[in-house]
Formats: sequence, structure tokens, C-alpha cells
Amino acid sequence: MGIPRPSGRWLCAAVAAMAVLASPGGGKVAAQIPAPRERPQDFTPQTCAGECHKDILERKVMHGPAKQDCGNCHVITGNPADHKFAFVVPKEQLCAKCHALPHDTVMHQPVKEGRCLECHDPHGSQHPKQLLADPKRDLCLRCHKADFRRSQFVHGPVAVGACIVCHRPHSSPRPKLLIDDPKTLCLTCHAEVQAKEGMHAHAALEQGCIRCHDPHASDHHFQLREEAPGLCLQCHKERFDQITAGAKVVHGAITAQGGCTVCHESHASRQASLLRGKQPDTCLVCHDKALKTAQGAAIANMTELLASNPDRHGPIREGACTACHEPHAGQKFRLLAEDYPPQFYAPFQIDTFKLCFKCHIPDLVLKQSAQGLTQFRDGDKNLHWLHVNQKKGRTCRACHEVHASKRPSHIREAVPFGTNGWLLQINYERSPDGGSCAPACHVQREYKRDAAKPLLSGSLGGQP
Ligand code: HEC
Ligand code: HEC
Ligand code: HEC
Ligand code: HEC
Ligand code: HEC
Ligand code: HEC
Ligand code: HEC
Ligand code: HEC
Ligand code: HEC
Ligand code: HEC
Ligand code: HEC
Ligand code: HEC
Ligand code: HEC
Repeated sequence: MGIPRPSGRWLCAAVAAMAVLASPGGGKVAAQIPAPRERPQDFTPQTCAGECHKDILERKVMHGPAKQDCGNCHVITGNPADHKFAFVVPKEQLCAKCHALPHDTVMHQPVKEGRCLECHDPHGSQHPKQLLADPKRDLCLRCHKADFRRSQFVHGPVAVGACIVCHRPHSSPRPKLLIDDPKTLCLTCHAEVQAKEGMHAHAALEQGCIRCHDPHASDHHFQLREEAPGLCLQCHKERFDQITAGAKVVHGAITAQGGCTVCHESHASRQASLLRGKQPDTCLVCHDKALKTAQGAAIANMTELLASNPDRHGPIREGACTACHEPHAGQKFRLLAEDYPPQFYAPFQIDTFKLCFKCHIPDLVLKQSAQGLTQFRDGDKNLHWLHVNQKKGRTCRACHEVHASKRPSHIREAVPFGTNGWLLQINYERSPDGGSCAPACHVQREYKRDAAKPLLSGSLGGQP
């Protein structure tokens, strides 16, 4: 913009002599300079500046016409001895005499009003383009108070006053004088945010970065317009209203500040559902300490539990906490994906154990004869059937730790019994052909399997 080179779009008003000036860029530009003979002999920069206005010629960046001829802009009026000057054209039109700036659809107000001198010095200055101040530091702040710079989180370029990395100073074909459309603009400096080969991109990016970020500043980290989950719910509210409406358990993770983004990436991810990483790591970001449910129940420190119990349950070895838990909200106790009785004793009904029998064979508890179904048998009597399949049946938690254990078959060390926090020791010991536990729920008991019959299909019906 500005001075087109080399052909030029200068405003050639009168048919005056054309002088050729060397531009700082080395290219030649033609400018309309009044012919010397039309001017008083002593009206040269040397005479004017040499005597009284020396400072005008001693600027780091000089405006070509001022270096060459003061008469380009000033004329003496009245008696020369009075040393009174006028401009060759009205001051507001002076610059337009030689410069034709592009008039894009969006004009910056001071430019539209011809107030070029609010930003440029007509003679020269210490800054490029004869600007009155450093355009990457404080030029724009002469007029824009930029109150947003007092926000808690200020965008890097804004903090230093480099407004022109994003805005054009004169005019632009885009709203808000932007250099480029906001999305492309942001990526010129933040290309790392883009989805790379093999990554899923968040569809929200199509609406542009400034849908979520304030380009200048905000009181939220990363200049976010709002913190998650509020930010995310701006678009996902409907879906979440569906999940949480009437949900018995809403996961604290989704209501916690920043919640959604602990598990999800905001921009792109290699994992499905924009997940940040593998389980259990993502879960352990928060479950690395004891927590409390909304009802005040204690939630164990899972990091500690997994670290001190090396034998992990199959799905956990596979990193699939969500094989059993809903990540957001659900109808079941402990966010479980399927039914599982919350108590120690529960009247037996196969449907209430859907969670376990999603993967394990129901016959494990349905059949009285073990028939090679389970190692937990005395002779051929199925001890799972015996313990679980009762009016006052024991739920799996009476004996098994569902996440991880030290003992074989995920038998627990102890089980919480009653409501006063008493831990009942199980003292399970395995033997080559059976096992024993006690004294606990009952006096010491042993079970001994009949001739070792291998399990027909393992514990997982039909599943590998
Ligand atoms: C490109 C046009 C232009 C040229 C060439 C030019 N001036 Fe100016 N000059 C101006 C304008 C415009 C103002 C008024 C500035 C303002 O109002 O802020 C001005 C103001 C002045 C002033 C008064 C205020 C000040 O800045 O000190 C003096 C003195 C002056 N010019 C001297 C000169 C001398 C000497 C030359 C030649 C070396 C020269 N000018 C060349 C445009 C020009
Ligand atoms: C008499 C013609 C003339 C007038 C009037 C004039 N300019 Fe210039 N201007 C030039 C020429 C020729 C150049 C190129 C030489 C140079 O770069 O200094 C130039 C260069 C510039 C540059 C630097 C451009 C670059 O790319 O580096 C700026 C900025 C500028 N002028 C602003 C102004 C402003 C603001 C005014 C009004 C106060 C003005 N000019 C009035 C002739 C003029
Ligand atoms: C709000 C401040 C501001 C105003 C007002 C302003 N300019 Fe500029 N101008 C700038 C900045 C900043 C640059 C340098 C842009 C860059 O380096 O990217 C510039 C650059 C220029 C250039 C160099 C070529 C170019 O476009 O980069 C010319 C010529 C110029 N201005 C002329 C004018 C004229 C003529 C006016 C009045 C019609 C004017 N300016 C008004 C801030 C301003
Ligand atoms: C001489 C005072 C002045 C200077 C210096 C100035 N501006 Fe402005 N700017 C204005 C005015 C006046 C408006 C219109 C009123 C408003 O929106 O605040 C405006 C509006 C804007 C707008 C909004 C345009 C729109 O379409 O809504 C942007 C963006 C902007 N300026 C950027 C800049 C940048 C970048 C600089 C530095 C290169 C700068 N301004 C320097 C006075 C100035
Ligand atoms: C990282 C790029 C970027 C930087 C740096 C930047 N802006 Fe902006 N600015 C924008 C974008 C994008 C918009 C449009 C916002 C929108 O449409 O919601 C904007 C809008 C504006 C507006 C219009 C009013 C508004 O807030 O929407 C003004 C005025 C403005 N900027 C001034 C400035 C000033 C002054 C600076 C320097 C202190 C600056 N900007 C630095 C990107 C930037
Ligand atoms: C000219 C380069 C530039 C452009 C263009 C730019 N930024 Fe930045 N951005 C930076 C710099 C520099 C930082 C500060 C560096 C840092 O803190 O790591 C930053 C920081 C950020 C941060 C905070 C990063 C952090 O770790 O705290 C966000 C978010 C951001 N930019 C978003 C945007 C958005 C959105 C846009 C487009 C409107 C944009 N940026 C355009 C240079 C740029
Ligand atoms: C759906 C909302 C959303 C959109 C759209 C969005 N971001 Fe972000 N961005 C965030 C959130 C939330 C964070 C906070 C860190 C996190 O949780 O990922 C963030 C963090 C950042 C950061 C700093 C941390 C990092 O990952 O480097 C940068 C830089 C950034 N965003 C740039 C961009 C750019 C550039 C775009 C446009 C291409 C964009 N963002 C679009 C929500 C968004
Ligand atoms: C500007 C609207 C908007 C915002 C804000 C937004 N999203 Fe999205 N998001 C979408 C759209 C559109 C889709 C694609 C359709 C769908 O799955 O609902 C999507 C999809 C998703 C998906 C599913 C991706 C997949 O591959 O299945 C996740 C996860 C997601 N968003 C998380 C978030 C998180 C976390 C935030 C907050 C940081 C957020 N979204 C903010 C619009 C948005
Ligand atoms: C504890 C981790 C976690 C938190 C916190 C979390 N999500 Fe998810 N989200 C997931 C997992 C895991 C999936 C994949 C579920 C699946 O594959 O069945 C998912 C799937 C999604 C999906 C796509 C599938 C669907 O269910 O619609 C969207 C959209 C989504 N989450 C948005 C959000 C938003 C918005 C928030 C915050 C309000 C949030 N998530 C909080 C873990 C989480
Ligand atoms: C952002 C932190 C955070 C993350 C990440 C997180 N949780 Fe939670 N979780 C909590 C908080 C806080 C509670 C306690 C409040 C409550 O009950 O929801 C909780 C409770 C739970 C509960 C008990 C719910 C109840 O009320 O009975 C389960 C089960 C659970 N989380 C599983 C998971 C799983 C599985 C993951 C990984 C997919 C995970 N959590 C990731 C914060 C988190
Ligand atoms: C095989 C199904 C299953 C898998 C896989 C699973 N859980 Fe659980 N989880 C449960 C059951 C069942 C309960 C309820 C335990 C009880 O009350 O006896 C539970 C309870 C919880 C609780 C509440 C603990 C407390 O002290 O009450 C948290 C937290 C939890 N799980 C997190 C996780 C995390 C993290 C993962 C992945 C490492 C995971 N779960 C994997 C079935 C599972
Ligand atoms: C998502 C599938 C899945 C669910 C749901 C599931 N399990 Fe498992 N379970 C497995 C896998 C896989 C193994 C490992 C089998 C192996 O190592 O041969 C396993 C192993 C076991 C073992 C130990 C077997 C052994 O001898 O080491 C026990 C005990 C067990 N599960 C109990 C349960 C209980 C109780 C539930 C319900 C609370 C349950 N499981 C829910 C998949 C599941
Ligand atoms: C009274 C304690 C007790 C209860 C209650 C119990 N189990 Fe077991 N379970 C055991 C013992 C002991 C073993 C180990 C047998 C062996 O290897 O000698 C076992 C083994 C298993 C195995 C490994 C395969 C096999 O059968 O040998 C699975 C799977 C299993 N139990 C699932 C469950 C499920 C599901 C429930 C709840 C419906 C449950 N158990 C209830 C004590 C119990």
C-alpha cells in the first residue's frame, strides 16, 4: 500500500516537473516535486535547516521530500521577511498530494479523516516510516487505551503493544482492520495447534480460534473467553443436559473448573473422542488422592491403590476404566455403566450383576454344580453359587477387589463391613487344589476341588 513501486499511483495534480527520488528500499519512486525555479533561492533544506531547523534534518528516518525540498509542502506567505508559512495545499490534503493509500472497505477512522500526522511525522523520526512511535510497542496506544491490557492474562503481542502484527494501520478488506481472517492469522504464530497427520480435529475450530479465545486478553488462563466447563457447554450444553438430566451421579470431574479439558484436548488429538491420553493416566490426574462424593462418601486414592496392588483386573491392564464407568454422568452407583449392587449383601438377581456378566459367564453364579465353571468350588459344589445366589447373597465385593489386588483372583485383604468403617480381614490363602479363608465371616473354612478340571472357557464366556 502507500507508495506503489515502481510504476506508482501517485496523485499527479499539476503538470509539474517530476523528480526521481531514491526510496529507502533502493527502488526508484517518482514524486511530484515543484520545479526549483518556482521557489525562492534560499528555500532549500540546507538553508532552512542549516540555520534554525537543524533538528529536522537530523532524524534517523527522513521523509524523502523533506530531505530534498522544504518547498514541497511549505510556501512563504506575505512578506518573506516576516518568515510566515502556509502549506502548499490544506494540511489535511498534504499527504494525499503525493500518496494514494488503498481505500479498503474498512477504514481506520484517523486515516479516513486525513489525520496522518497523528501517527507520522512529516519530516522524519526515530522510527520506521517516520512514525511518531514504535509501531510494535506504543504507537497504537497513543489513542487506544487498551484497557484489556489490565486483564489477568494478556496475549503476548498485545502485552508488548505490537498491535500491527494483527491489524493494519490504515485500512483492510476485513472487519476490525485485520491483516487476515482470524483463523489463518492465529496459525501464523501457533501452527502447533493444528491437527497433524492422523489426528482428529475438534469441529469447533471451524468457527475460528476467537470463538474460544479473546485475541487480546481476558481474566482466564490462555485468554479464554470462559473457563471449561462453561466454555465447552456453550456448544455441548444440549448433549450434557440430556446426560445429566435426572442422572443419579454426576461426575465431579465435569463440574470442576477446567474439568472437561483434563480429559479432553481442546484442539486435536490422536485418540478418539479428543481424549488427552490413555487411561488410567487421565483418571489419575484427579484420583491421585482421596476424594469425597457429593454425598460425602470417601473415595479411595486410586494411584495408591494401583501402585500397592500389582495384580490388575483385566480391563484395567488394558487401560479401560470406561469399560465399567461412565466418564460424565450416569444412573448407576459409582458412575457404573451397568447394574451392580452397591451393598455387601443383596438378594440375588442376575440382572443386578450386569456389570460383571458383561464379560464373565453368568453360569458362574447360576449353576449349583461347578461343572468346570469355576475354581471356587468344593468338590463339584459351586461356591460362587453358594455365596452369591441367595436371598441374602454376598455381592462380589465381599471377596473381590474389582480394580487390583495383591492376592490371586483379586481376592481382597479385607472388606469394609457395616457403616462404622470396620475392615473385616478375609485372610484368604490359596492351596494347590483349593483355598481357605478365616477367621472372618465364619470360622476358618477350606475348599478342596475334585480332580483338577480345567475351566471350560476360562472366566470370560466366549471372550478371549
Ligand atoms: C511532506 C511535507 C513537508 C515537508 C517536505 C516539510 N514539511 Fe515542515 N511541516 C509539514 C507539516 C504537515 C507541518 C505541520 C506539523 C504539525 O502540524 O504537526 C510542518 C511543520 C513544520 C514546522 C513547524 C513545526 C515543527 O515541526 O517544528 C517547521 C519549522 C517546518 N515544518 C520546517 C520544515 C523544513 C525546514 C522543511 C525542509 C527541511 C520542511 N518543514 C519540510 C510538512 C512538511
Ligand atoms: C511532495 C510529495 C510528498 C508529500 C506531500 C508527502 N510525501 Fe511521503 N513520501 C514521498 C516520497 C517521494 C517518498 C519516498 C521517499 C521516502 O521513502 O522517503 C515518501 C515516503 C513516505 C513514507 C515512507 C514510505 C516507505 O515505504 O518507507 C511515509 C510513511 C510517508 N511518505 C508519509 C507521508 C505523510 C504522512 C505525508 C503527509 C504529512 C507525506 N508522506 C507527504 C513524497 C511525499
Ligand atoms: C493509526 C496510525 C496511522 C495513521 C493515522 C496513518 N498511518 Fe501510515 N502507517 C502507519 C503504520 C504503523 C505504518 C507502517 C506499517 C508497517 O510497517 O507495516 C504506516 C505506513 C505508511 C506508509 C508506508 C507504506 C505502507 O503503507 O506501509 C505510508 C506511505 C503511509 N503510512 C502513509 C500514510 C498516510 C498518507 C496517512 C494519512 C492518510 C497515514 N499513513 C495515516 C500508521 C498510520
Ligand atoms: C489517532 C488516534 C488513533 C491511533 C493512534 C490509533 N487508532 Fe485505532 N482507532 C481510532 C479511532 C478514533 C477508532 C474508531 C473508534 C473506535 O472504534 O474506538 C479506531 C478504531 C480502531 C479499530 C477498530 C476498527 C473497527 O472496524 O471496528 C482497530 C482494530 C484499531 N483502531 C486499531 C489500531 C491500531 C492497530 C493502531 C496502531 C497502528 C491504532 N488503531 C492507532 C483512533 C486511533
Ligand atoms: C493476535 C492478534 C491481535 C493483536 C496482537 C491485536 N488484536 Fe485487536 N483484534 C484482533 C481480532 C481477531 C479482533 C476481532 C475480534 C472479534 O471480531 O471478536 C480484534 C479487534 C480489535 C478492535 C475492535 C474492538 C474489539 O475489541 O473487538 C480494536 C479496537 C483492537 N482490536 C485494537 C487492538 C489494539 C489497540 C491492539 C494492540 C494493543 C490489538 N488490537 C492487538 C486481533 C488482535
Ligand atoms: C505474531 C504472532 C502471534 C499471533 C499472530 C498470535 N499469537 Fe498468540 N501468542 C503469541 C506469543 C508471542 C505468545 C506468548 C508466548 C507464550 O506465552 O508462550 C502467544 C500466546 C498465546 C496464547 C497463550 C499461550 C500460553 O501458553 O499461555 C494463546 C491462547 C494464544 N496466543 C492464542 C492466539 C490466538 C487465538 C491468536 C489469533 C487471534 C493468536 N494467538 C495470534 C504470538 C502470536
Ligand atoms: C473450543 C474452544 C477452543 C478453540 C476453538 C480454540 N482453542 Fe485454543 N485453547 C482452548 C482451551 C480450553 C485451551 C486451554 C488449554 C487446554 O486445555 O488445551 C486452549 C489453549 C490454547 C493455547 C495454549 C496452549 C497450547 O495448547 O499451546 C494456544 C496457543 C491456543 N489455544 C491457540 C489456539 C488457536 C491458534 C486456535 C485456532 C486454530 C484455537 N486455540 C482454538 C480452547 C480452544
Ligand atoms: C463453538 C462450539 C464448540 C465449543 C465451544 C466446543 N465444542 Fe466440542 N464440538 C463442537 C462440535 C460442532 C463438535 C462435533 C459434533 C459433536 O460431536 O457434537 C464437537 C465435538 C466434540 C467432541 C467429540 C469429538 C469426537 O471426535 O467424537 C468432544 C470430546 C468435544 N467436542 C469436547 C469439547 C470440549 C472439551 C470443549 C471445551 C474445551 C468443547 N468441545 C467446546 C463444537 C464445540
Ligand atoms: C473424566 C474424564 C472426562 C471428563 C472430565 C469429560 N469427558 Fe467427555 N468423554 C470422556 C470419555 C472417556 C469419552 C469417550 C466415551 C466413549 O467412548 O464412550 C468422552 C466423550 C465425550 C464426547 C463425545 C461423545 C459423547 O458422549 O457425546 C463429548 C462431546 C464430550 N466427551 C464432551 C465433554 C465435555 C463438554 C466435558 C465437560 C463438561 C467432558 N466431556 C468431560 C471423558 C471425559
Ligand atoms: C478433573 C478431575 C477428575 C478426573 C480427571 C476424574 N475424576 Fe473421577 N471424580 C472426581 C471427583 C472430584 C470425584 C468426587 C465427586 C463425585 O462423586 O463425582 C470423582 C468421583 C469418581 C467416582 C465416584 C463417583 C460417585 O459419586 O460415586 C468414580 C467411579 C470416578 N470418579 C471414576 C473416574 C474415572 C473412571 C476417571 C477417568 C476416566 C475419572 N474418574 C477421572 C474427579 C475426577
Ligand atoms: C471391571 C469394572 C471396573 C473397572 C474396569 C474399573 N472400575 Fe472403578 N469401580 C468399579 C466398581 C464395581 C466400583 C464400586 C466398588 C465397590 O463399591 O465395591 C468401582 C469404584 C470406583 C471408584 C470409587 C472408589 C471408592 O473408594 O469407592 C473409583 C474412584 C473408581 N472406581 C475409579 C476407577 C478407575 C480410575 C478405573 C481405571 C483405572 C476404574 N475405576 C476401573 C468397577 C470398575
Ligand atoms: C470389561 C470386561 C470385564 C468386566 C466388566 C469385568 N471383568 Fe473381571 N475380568 C476381565 C478380564 C479380561 C479378566 C482377566 C482374565 C484373565 O486374565 O484370564 C478378568 C478377571 C477377573 C477375575 C480374576 C480371574 C483370575 O482368576 O485371576 C475376577 C475375580 C474378576 N474378573 C471379577 C470381576 C467382577 C467381580 C466383575 C464385576 C464387578 C468383573 N470382573 C467385571 C474382564 C472383565
Ligand atoms: C465368598 C467369596 C466370593 C464371592 C462372593 C465371589 N467370589 Fe469370585 N472367587 C472367589 C474365590 C476364592 C476365587 C478363587 C478360586 C480359586 O482360584 O481357588 C474366585 C474366583 C473368581 C473368578 C475367577 C474364575 C473362577 O471362577 O475361578 C471370577 C471371574 C470370579 N470369582 C467372579 C466373581 C463374581 C463376578 C462375583 C460376584 C457375582 C464373585 N466372583 C463373587 C470368591 C468369591
